[in-house]
Amino acid sequence: MAYNALKGIQDILPPDIHVWQRIESVAREIFQRYGFQEIRVPIIESTDVFIRSIGETTDIVEKEMYTFQDKAGRSITMRPEGTAPAVRCYVEHHLYNLPVPQKFFYSGPMFRYERPQKGRFRQFYQIGVEAFGVSQPSIDVEVIAMLKNLLEGIGLKEVKFELNSIGCEKCRPDYKNALLKFFESKLSDFCPDCQRRYNTNPLRILDCKVERCIELRKGAPAVAEHLCGDCREHFTGLVSRLDLMKIAYTLNPNLVRGLDYYTRTTFEVTTEHLGAQKAVAAGGRYDRLVEEFGGPSTPAIGFAIGMERIATLLQAQNSELRTPQPKVFIATLGKEAEIEGFKIAEDLRARGFWVEPNYAGASLKSQLRKADRIGAEIAFIIGENELKAGKIQWKNLKKGGQGEVEIKDIPAILTDDIQTSNP
Ligand code: HAM
Repeated sequence: MAYNALKGIQDILPPDIHVWQRIESVAREIFQRYGFQEIRVPIIESTDVFIRSIGETTDIVEKEMYTFQDKAGRSITMRPEGTAPAVRCYVEHHLYNLPVPQKFFYSGPMFRYERPQKGRFRQFYQIGVEAFGVSQPSIDVEVIAMLKNLLEGIGLKEVKFELNSIGCEKCRPDYKNALLKFFESKLSDFCPDCQRRYNTNPLRILDCKVERCIELRKGAPAVAEHLCGDCREHFTGLVSRLDLMKIAYTLNPNLVRGLDYYTRTTFEVTTEHLGAQKAVAAGGRYDRLVEEFGGPSTPAIGFAIGMERIATLLQAQNSELRTPQPKVFIATLGKEAEIEGFKIAEDLRARGFWVEPNYAGASLKSQLRKADRIGAEIAFIIGENELKAGKIQWKNLKKGGQGEVEIKDIPAILTDDIQTSNP
């Protein structure tokens, strides 16, 4: 009986994993510079955590959550995103008592029962950040600048920052009414999902990907015209700071996002190279969520990057992403040589080198062929005669050149590149 991974769920293997590790290590380094500390939140939460935050009438909650009952009959959901667990954690541990801002990052798998396609999976990985406690646009700029530095740091090219403000609980009702009025007369022409959204969540009509709906919503009122004074001031503060810092962005009045917790700033980083799944990262403000989770009124903002999409783009760009390869292969002939080879391997590993020994007594020719195949840079060859003389042969498999070295001098020649290359 052969088993396969579930539909929309994939294994990440070498060499792809090296691209992932590179993204993760650049992210950690950049986050540290901005004072974002790691938190590890659970993969499963009480289902209410997501319903309360993401919103009952969103696609995620209505159709996409992996929800099950545990043995005690509690409703449990595998996290479809990381913001809700981060807010639950922030409130549960009273982190609002610490100096503001509190800035966190997390990474790991998320689960959404979506229709799998290129760039869309049912288990996918995000690296996300959340900053709590600052209402001023200065932190919006910081978070966006950090995202830009992160994407540049990993070498991602040709991405676009899209930006919008969707207002707050004060101005949203007025905007919703304007939308309802605009859509009313043509409602029957919209897709069934949008017809339902008309009653439950009209802003989401702006985000529908159905061609017919895109056409029908042309000329719809823009949220910018309905922002209250405070929201307008916040948004102006944000864009003027972005301009001053020369961070390029495009205003997109339809950027309403698929999660209900957002207020004011929303942003997405998009690409033209991934087909329909354009967003490689997305985020925004959610100034009400901490309070809704029982904490004190605390503004917050964050984003998450989609690992699969970014890894795919990086691989397609083929930008100097070298797969790590062993530094040393130790070929041995005979039992004593094999034991000496293992000793040398252990010594070199303790010094930080990646060493592959010979495990299975093959001929020298086939051992060297293997060394070549695994991409080793230098092969050491140990036979009976070499052992007696206390010397072994080396061969540089990348640059050519070969010679003899005393066993005690091996570490030195590994760091001395000149000696192991062709004269
Ligand atoms: P989101 O837009 O739902 O936002 O997801 C963020 C990113 O995760 C997307 O831009 C995309 O790159 C990736 N992504 C989402 N769904 C999938 C999927 N099915 N397959 C592959 N990649 C996917 C959030 O999750 C918010 N929690 C972001 C946030 C943090 N907002 C504030 N703080």
